[in-house]
Amino acid sequence: MMPDAAQLAQAHWNETPLFLTEQERYSTYPWLYDVAEFRKHAGDKVLEIGCGTGADLLQFAKHGAIATGVDLTARHVELARKRLGDLAVVLQADMRHLPLEDESFDYVYSHGVLHHSDEPEKVVREIFRVLRPGGRINIHVYGFWSYFTLWSFLRNGRKWKRHIENSEAPVHTDLYTGRKLRRLFGPSISIEKHQCEPFEFLAPLFGWYLVVKDRKPQAGFLTKA
Ligand SMILES: C[S@@+](CC[C@H](N)C(=O)[O-])C[C@H]1O[C@@H](n2cnc3c(N)ncnc32)[C@H](O)[C@@H]1O
Repeated sequence: MMPDAAQLAQAHWNETPLFLTEQERYSTYPWLYDVAEFRKHAGDKVLEIGCGTGADLLQFAKHGAIATGVDLTARHVELARKRLGDLAVVLQADMRHLPLEDESFDYVYSHGVLHHSDEPEKVVREIFRVLRPGGRINIHVYGFWSYFTLWSFLRNGRKWKRHIENSEAPVHTDLYTGRKLRRLFGPSISIEKHQCEPFEFLAPLFGWYLVVKDRKPQAGFLTKA
């Protein structure tokens, strides 16, 4: 039987974990610190989905958030726990079935994870289940209409997707458009584009990351997902 996306992800990152120092990460993604709002959640309960080895989770925690990270890959969870110590809770879990209570977070953040799922509807349902009414989301996925898609295709040909991640081990990767994101999250989301090095000013047109922001309605929770 073919492995599903979650099995592929685990195999990929257990075999080749992705560990960047804070210095490496925020020089590679100079826009991320502000866009992710690391400094703006002191006292909030923040959930990071697919926290990887924990660089972003650490930023929320350092700035006073009550931080929880979830990731499926054992090796990433181990490295995140080592990086975070007692600054955050790190759980090994599948984002399609979060072992977390309804309406228990003020802010749900995720960078570079949802596009590795072949069941994103389930993930979105879980995000809005654990988010409190009035809570906000900030979710980053790869964009189809981007300089990186074109550049990778020209460089690597038909198998270009094999070259996106930190190794060529197979992994499921979808690319998103605004329309696809609105179908998934609903019409009220806002979408920004980022990461277009070295011409960051072109990112609103050709950026590689689509950043989805939204707020869960105070009432009418059932309108979501
Ligand atoms: C490209 S890495 C990104 C990690 C981190 N957010 C970062 O930006 O460095 C993708 C992460 O998603 C996690 N992941 C993939 N599928 C998952 C699932 N079904 N549930 C939870 N985590 C998952 C992987 O284990 C991996 O850590």
